Amino acid sequence: MRIIKTATYEEMSQRAAHIVAAHITLNPACVLGLATGSTPEGLYAELVRLHRLGDLDFRQVKTVNLDEYRHLPRNHPESYYTFMQKHLLSKINIDPANTHLPNGELADAQVACTEYETILRSTGGVDLQLLGIGRNGHIGFNEPDSVFPKDTHCVRLSESTIEANARFFSSADEVPREAYTMGVGTIMRAQRILLVASGKSKAEAVFQTVCGPVTPEVPASILQFHHDATIICDEEAGALLP
Ligand code: GLP
Repeated sequence: MRIIKTATYEEMSQRAAHIVAAHITLNPACVLGLATGSTPEGLYAELVRLHRLGDLDFRQVKTVNLDEYRHLPRNHPESYYTFMQKHLLSKINIDPANTHLPNGELADAQVACTEYETILRSTGGVDLQLLGIGRNGHIGFNEPDSVFPKDTHCVRLSESTIEANARFFSSADEVPREAYTMGVGTIMRAQRILLVASGKSKAEAVFQTVCGPVTPEVPASILQFHHDATIICDEEAGALLP
Protein backbone atom coordinates (compact mmCIF):
# COMPACT_ATOMS: atom_id res chain seq x y z
CA MET A 1 0.00 0.00 0.00
CA ARG A 2 1.40 3.37 -1.01
CA ILE A 3 0.70 6.29 1.35
CA ILE A 4 1.01 9.91 0.25
CA LYS A 5 0.55 12.55 2.94
CA THR A 6 -0.14 16.11 1.89
CA ALA A 7 -0.22 19.31 3.92
CA THR A 8 -3.68 20.42 2.84
CA TYR A 9 -6.97 19.28 1.30
CA GLU A 10 -6.15 21.27 -1.86
CA GLU A 11 -2.82 19.49 -2.29
CA MET A 12 -4.48 16.11 -1.67
CA SER A 13 -7.06 16.90 -4.37
CA GLN A 14 -4.43 18.01 -6.88
CA ARG A 15 -2.16 15.02 -6.32
CA ALA A 16 -5.11 12.63 -6.71
CA ALA A 17 -6.47 14.43 -9.80
CA HIS A 18 -3.08 14.29 -11.47
CA ILE A 19 -2.87 10.54 -10.92
CA VAL A 20 -6.33 10.15 -12.52
CA ALA A 21 -5.39 12.51 -15.35
CA ALA A 22 -2.17 10.62 -16.08
CA HIS A 23 -4.16 7.40 -16.15
CA ILE A 24 -6.60 8.81 -18.71
CA THR A 25 -3.76 10.19 -20.83
CA LEU A 26 -2.08 6.78 -20.91
CA ASN A 27 -5.36 4.86 -21.36
CA PRO A 28 -7.86 7.14 -23.16
CA ALA A 29 -10.54 4.41 -23.16
CA CYS A 30 -10.14 3.47 -19.52
CA VAL A 31 -12.89 2.51 -17.07
CA LEU A 32 -12.91 4.76 -14.02
CA GLY A 33 -14.64 3.73 -10.81
CA LEU A 34 -15.98 6.91 -9.21
CA ALA A 35 -16.84 7.86 -5.65
CA THR A 36 -19.10 10.46 -4.07
CA GLY A 37 -18.96 12.30 -0.72
CA SER A 38 -17.43 15.68 -0.02
CA THR A 39 -13.81 14.44 -0.10
CA PRO A 40 -13.48 13.93 -3.89
CA GLU A 41 -15.13 17.26 -4.75
CA GLY A 42 -11.76 19.05 -5.02
CA LEU A 43 -10.34 16.22 -7.12
CA TYR A 44 -13.28 16.48 -9.55
CA ALA A 45 -12.90 20.28 -9.71
CA GLU A 46 -9.26 19.82 -10.71
CA LEU A 47 -10.19 17.27 -13.41
CA VAL A 48 -12.74 19.75 -14.79
CA ARG A 49 -10.07 22.48 -14.77
CA LEU A 50 -7.59 20.27 -16.66
CA HIS A 51 -10.31 19.37 -19.16
CA ARG A 52 -11.12 23.04 -19.76
CA LEU A 53 -7.43 23.76 -20.33
CA GLY A 54 -7.63 21.20 -23.13
CA ASP A 55 -5.35 18.76 -21.28
CA LEU A 56 -7.84 16.02 -20.61
CA ASP A 57 -10.12 14.21 -23.04
CA PHE A 58 -12.95 12.04 -21.65
CA ARG A 59 -14.46 11.12 -25.03
CA GLN A 60 -13.66 7.41 -24.72
CA VAL A 61 -13.70 7.12 -20.93
CA LYS A 62 -16.32 4.96 -19.20
CA THR A 63 -17.35 5.51 -15.58
CA VAL A 64 -19.04 3.31 -13.00
CA ASN A 65 -19.97 4.67 -9.60
CA LEU A 66 -19.61 2.83 -6.34
CA ASP A 67 -23.08 3.29 -4.96
CA GLU A 68 -26.48 4.97 -4.92
CA TYR A 69 -29.18 5.49 -2.29
CA ARG A 70 -32.12 3.11 -2.64
CA HIS A 71 -35.58 4.67 -3.12
CA LEU A 72 -34.20 8.14 -3.88
CA PRO A 73 -35.40 9.51 -7.22
CA ARG A 74 -32.51 9.93 -9.67
CA ASN A 75 -33.07 13.68 -9.89
CA HIS A 76 -33.27 14.24 -6.13
CA PRO A 77 -30.69 16.92 -5.21
CA GLU A 78 -28.84 14.47 -2.93
CA SER A 79 -28.84 11.42 -5.19
CA TYR A 80 -25.38 10.33 -6.24
CA TYR A 81 -26.54 10.65 -9.85
CA THR A 82 -27.12 14.37 -9.24
CA PHE A 83 -23.82 14.68 -7.36
CA MET A 84 -21.88 13.22 -10.28
CA GLN A 85 -23.65 15.44 -12.82
CA LYS A 86 -22.99 18.53 -10.72
CA HIS A 87 -19.34 17.94 -9.89
CA LEU A 88 -18.01 16.18 -12.96
CA LEU A 89 -20.09 14.52 -15.65
CA SER A 90 -21.99 17.55 -16.99
CA LYS A 91 -18.73 19.54 -17.14
CA ILE A 92 -16.60 17.24 -19.28
CA ASN A 93 -16.85 15.76 -22.77
CA ILE A 94 -17.89 12.29 -21.65
CA ASP A 95 -20.58 10.34 -23.52
CA PRO A 96 -23.54 10.05 -21.07
CA ALA A 97 -24.12 6.51 -22.38
CA ASN A 98 -20.72 5.59 -20.91
CA THR A 99 -21.57 6.70 -17.36
CA HIS A 100 -23.19 4.31 -14.92
CA LEU A 101 -24.51 4.21 -11.36
CA PRO A 102 -26.65 1.64 -9.59
CA ASN A 103 -30.33 2.40 -10.24
CA GLY A 104 -31.69 3.56 -6.87
CA GLU A 105 -35.18 3.83 -8.33
CA LEU A 106 -35.42 0.07 -8.80
CA ALA A 107 -37.30 -1.16 -5.73
CA ASP A 108 -36.42 -4.80 -6.38
CA ALA A 109 -32.96 -5.10 -4.85
CA GLN A 110 -32.18 -8.36 -6.60
CA VAL A 111 -32.95 -6.86 -10.01
CA ALA A 112 -31.02 -3.64 -9.26
CA CYS A 113 -27.90 -5.47 -8.09
CA THR A 114 -27.88 -8.07 -10.87
CA GLU A 115 -28.38 -5.31 -13.44
CA TYR A 116 -25.42 -3.34 -12.05
CA GLU A 117 -23.11 -6.37 -11.92
CA THR A 118 -23.99 -7.01 -15.59
CA ILE A 119 -23.07 -3.42 -16.45
CA LEU A 120 -19.81 -3.69 -14.51
CA ARG A 121 -18.84 -6.86 -16.32
CA SER A 122 -19.80 -5.42 -19.71
CA THR A 123 -17.27 -2.61 -19.24
CA GLY A 124 -14.50 -5.21 -19.01
CA GLY A 125 -13.56 -4.23 -15.43
CA VAL A 126 -12.45 -1.13 -13.59
CA ASP A 127 -8.96 0.17 -14.38
CA LEU A 128 -8.75 2.81 -11.66
CA GLN A 129 -11.14 2.88 -8.71
CA LEU A 130 -11.47 6.05 -6.63
CA LEU A 131 -12.57 5.68 -3.04
CA GLY A 132 -13.38 7.91 -0.11
CA ILE A 133 -13.65 6.45 3.37
CA GLY A 134 -16.36 6.60 6.01
CA ARG A 135 -15.60 7.55 9.61
CA ASN A 136 -16.20 3.90 10.47
CA GLY A 137 -13.87 2.67 7.70
CA HIS A 138 -16.60 1.94 5.14
CA ILE A 139 -15.82 2.00 1.41
CA GLY A 140 -18.64 2.58 -1.05
CA PHE A 141 -21.47 1.73 1.33
CA ASN A 142 -19.83 -1.46 2.62
CA GLU A 143 -20.42 -0.97 6.32
CA PRO A 144 -18.50 -2.73 9.13
CA ASP A 145 -19.71 -6.31 9.20
CA SER A 146 -18.65 -9.83 10.05
CA VAL A 147 -17.88 -10.68 6.41
CA PHE A 148 -16.60 -8.81 3.33
CA PRO A 149 -19.57 -8.63 0.94
CA LYS A 150 -18.54 -9.80 -2.53
CA ASP A 151 -20.72 -8.35 -5.26
CA THR A 152 -23.13 -5.44 -5.67
CA HIS A 153 -25.74 -5.68 -2.93
CA CYS A 154 -28.33 -3.76 -0.95
CA VAL A 155 -27.17 -2.46 2.44
CA ARG A 156 -28.85 -1.01 5.47
CA LEU A 157 -26.84 2.09 6.43
CA SER A 158 -25.30 2.21 9.89
CA GLU A 159 -26.34 4.86 12.40
CA SER A 160 -22.84 6.38 12.11
CA THR A 161 -23.23 6.77 8.32
CA ILE A 162 -26.77 8.16 8.59
CA GLU A 163 -25.50 10.70 11.12
CA ALA A 164 -22.45 11.59 8.97
CA ASN A 165 -24.59 12.05 5.83
CA ALA A 166 -27.38 13.97 7.61
CA ARG A 167 -25.50 17.20 6.79
CA PHE A 168 -26.58 16.86 3.16
CA PHE A 169 -30.29 16.53 4.05
CA SER A 170 -32.61 18.76 6.07
CA SER A 171 -32.50 16.22 8.95
CA ALA A 172 -31.23 12.73 9.78
CA ASP A 173 -34.80 11.46 9.21
CA GLU A 174 -34.50 12.41 5.54
CA VAL A 175 -31.39 10.28 4.94
CA PRO A 176 -32.34 7.12 3.02
CA ARG A 177 -31.86 4.02 5.18
CA GLU A 178 -30.66 1.78 2.37
CA ALA A 179 -28.33 1.87 -0.60
CA TYR A 180 -27.04 -0.26 -3.45
CA THR A 181 -23.27 -0.59 -3.42
CA MET A 182 -20.50 -2.40 -5.22
CA GLY A 183 -19.23 -5.16 -2.94
CA VAL A 184 -15.76 -5.31 -1.46
CA GLY A 185 -15.00 -8.08 -3.96
CA THR A 186 -16.12 -5.82 -6.82
CA ILE A 187 -13.87 -3.04 -5.55
CA MET A 188 -10.89 -5.37 -5.11
CA ARG A 189 -11.16 -6.51 -8.75
CA ALA A 190 -10.07 -3.02 -9.91
CA GLN A 191 -6.57 -2.89 -11.40
CA ARG A 192 -5.61 0.15 -9.31
CA ILE A 193 -7.21 1.79 -6.31
CA LEU A 194 -6.84 5.39 -5.16
CA LEU A 195 -8.37 6.35 -1.80
CA VAL A 196 -8.60 9.97 -0.67
CA ALA A 197 -9.14 10.98 2.97
CA SER A 198 -9.37 14.39 4.56
CA GLY A 199 -9.98 15.82 8.01
CA LYS A 200 -9.55 14.62 11.56
CA SER A 201 -12.83 12.70 11.61
CA LYS A 202 -11.10 10.20 9.28
CA ALA A 203 -7.82 9.85 11.20
CA GLU A 204 -8.81 6.75 13.18
CA ALA A 205 -10.31 5.03 10.10
CA VAL A 206 -7.15 5.76 8.07
CA PHE A 207 -4.94 4.47 10.88
CA GLN A 208 -6.97 1.24 11.20
CA THR A 209 -6.98 0.82 7.41
CA VAL A 210 -3.21 1.06 7.13
CA CYS A 211 -1.92 -0.27 10.45
CA GLY A 212 -4.74 -2.39 11.88
CA PRO A 213 -5.66 -5.99 11.20
CA VAL A 214 -7.44 -6.81 7.93
CA THR A 215 -11.01 -7.23 9.13
CA PRO A 216 -14.54 -6.69 7.79
CA GLU A 217 -15.06 -4.55 10.91
CA VAL A 218 -12.94 -1.98 9.02
CA PRO A 219 -13.89 -2.67 5.38
CA ALA A 220 -11.10 -0.42 3.96
CA SER A 221 -8.46 -2.58 5.70
CA ILE A 222 -8.86 -5.12 2.84
CA LEU A 223 -6.87 -2.67 0.71
CA GLN A 224 -3.74 -3.97 2.48
CA PHE A 225 -4.21 -7.05 0.24
CA HIS A 226 -4.56 -5.10 -3.01
CA HIS A 227 -1.52 -5.15 -5.31
CA ASP A 228 -1.82 -1.49 -6.35
CA ALA A 229 -3.58 0.63 -3.73
CA THR A 230 -2.63 4.22 -2.95
CA ILE A 231 -3.97 6.35 -0.11
CA ILE A 232 -3.63 10.12 -0.34
CA CYS A 233 -4.50 11.85 2.89
CA ASP A 234 -4.13 15.35 4.20
CA GLU A 235 -2.32 16.22 7.41
CA GLU A 236 -5.36 15.74 9.66
CA ALA A 237 -6.55 12.44 8.19
CA GLY A 238 -3.01 11.06 8.32
CA ALA A 239 -2.29 12.38 11.82
CA LEU A 240 -2.21 8.96 13.52
CA LEU A 241 -0.03 7.26 10.89
CA PRO A 242 3.54 6.53 11.99
C1 GLP B 1 -20.61 8.09 1.72
C2 GLP B 1 -20.20 7.38 0.44
C3 GLP B 1 -18.75 6.93 0.48
C4 GLP B 1 -17.88 8.06 0.96
C5 GLP B 1 -18.27 8.44 2.37
C6 GLP B 1 -17.43 9.56 2.97
O1 GLP B 1 -21.12 7.28 2.69
N1 GLP B 1 -21.02 6.26 0.15
O2 GLP B 1 -18.36 6.49 -0.80
O3 GLP B 1 -16.53 7.67 0.94
O4 GLP B 1 -19.63 8.88 2.33
O5 GLP B 1 -17.92 10.79 2.57
P1 GLP B 1 -17.19 12.17 2.84
O6 GLP B 1 -16.09 12.27 1.85
O7 GLP B 1 -18.26 13.21 2.63
O8 GLP B 1 -16.70 12.14 4.24
